[in-house]
Amino acid sequence: MTKKLWGTRFARKTNALTDKFTSSISFDQRLAKYDILGSIAHAKMLGKQGIIPKKDAARIVKGLSSILGDVKVGRFKFDPQAEDIHSNIQDLLAKKAGEAAHKLHTARSRNDQIALDVKMYLKEEIDNFTDLITELEKAILKFAKNNSKVIIPGYTHLQVAQCVLLSHHMLAYMEGLERDKARLSDAKERLDQMPLGSCALSGTGLAINRAYVTRELGFKKATENSIDSVSDRDFIIETLADLAILSVHLSRLAEDLIIWSTREFNFIDIDFSFCTGSSIMPHKKNPDVLELIRGSVGKIQGDLSSVLIMMKGLPLSYNRDMQLDKPPLFDAIDTVKDILEIFIALFGNIIVEKEAIALRLADESLFSVDIVEYLIKKGLSYREAHDIVGKMVRDCLDEGRKISNLSNHELKRYSPKLNPDVKSILNAWASVNLKSSFGGTSPNLIAKQLKRWDKLLK
Ligand code: ARG
Repeated sequence: MTKKLWGTRFARKTNALTDKFTSSISFDQRLAKYDILGSIAHAKMLGKQGIIPKKDAARIVKGLSSILGDVKVGRFKFDPQAEDIHSNIQDLLAKKAGEAAHKLHTARSRNDQIALDVKMYLKEEIDNFTDLITELEKAILKFAKNNSKVIIPGYTHLQVAQCVLLSHHMLAYMEGLERDKARLSDAKERLDQMPLGSCALSGTGLAINRAYVTRELGFKKATENSIDSVSDRDFIIETLADLAILSVHLSRLAEDLIIWSTREFNFIDIDFSFCTGSSIMPHKKNPDVLELIRGSVGKIQGDLSSVLIMMKGLPLSYNRDMQLDKPPLFDAIDTVKDILEIFIALFGNIIVEKEAIALRLADESLFSVDIVEYLIKKGLSYREAHDIVGKMVRDCLDEGRKISNLSNHELKRYSPKLNPDVKSILNAWASVNLKSSFGGTSPNLIAKQLKRWDKLLK
């Protein structure tokens, strides 16, 4: 049993239920490395400032370094009875550094310590996310390039809309993912302020050197307000919000792939290695991986809400409620990482059903806007052109005919401006070629975009 950092003032032992209920070691043990690194910098500073004897500081640093070594190779045995990671490490240090260990907690509190630990953890995790998102972007880009000649019917309202290049559709996800990276790096930039030395909330009368600790730990600057330092959890909320937005993108990507893999759509085939079967229906090959991605994104949205709701009623400064920021934060981080990893692997295991897709491009309603624009180029107003094409589409649907099969005479009945050459635009390639406005789906533009992404991800 670790010794309580605050036990002396207490007339009686705490109830076992209290210990169990207040303990955070089961989850904050993942912060061990950062807690130790923070303590090493703090001990060095205390020695340098003459607040504790240099030889005690050296003993503390040596003890902490050996614990850190154990943590790094996974040999560190967490004490399930410890109140939290801070007490656990303090206790172990006492065994390694003797009396000197009791000087470590000079001029600090667990309130500034926990804020420091989480910030250090997040700085590292955000870098990991940036790398993982880039890996996914590369996988998507490869898929887009491998299928750069594929045109699909694009959808709005989940109704057939207009032809687009499949690669254009995939690159749309890249734009969102790139914004996700920018948001995370922005969050990292903002949280890069070192809180240690704020102590419980008011600072300290001891001659500490926060600038030194800031440099030692590689932070950009020290936090300016000791009360804010121990009260603020914006950095957790912001990271969670960024992960929540990222996860929305991942969920929509999963949904696109689920729909595309249905027999009704049949745009893609997902390899068996990323599907599961049915216990009753022998014919089934279900996209369970993608469904679980979509499903677990709900949990990530919940993680964000739970921290927002936990924080909103708290008076400044530190309150123990804030301990509960960690399980949702860790859950979101782990879940989004899992999703990114499985997506990266999945993209090499999708076959595009080119022939099946090509059949769908015979649907001439895909070209209705192209005919409208054809008429606009001949001087008609948008309204007139829309009406004319609306009539053509309706009649053709009613009579089960195709616009491309209308005679010249029939075309002229809809508008004298409709010449036989209109039929030359009633195909998928003509249609995408026409969309040459910046950002549009024309193959020339998409080829440039693929090159741009190639460069960007190098
Ligand atoms: N386990 C706490 C947390 O996660 C650490 C700080 C505890 N401070 C205190 N005065 N009880 O926020």
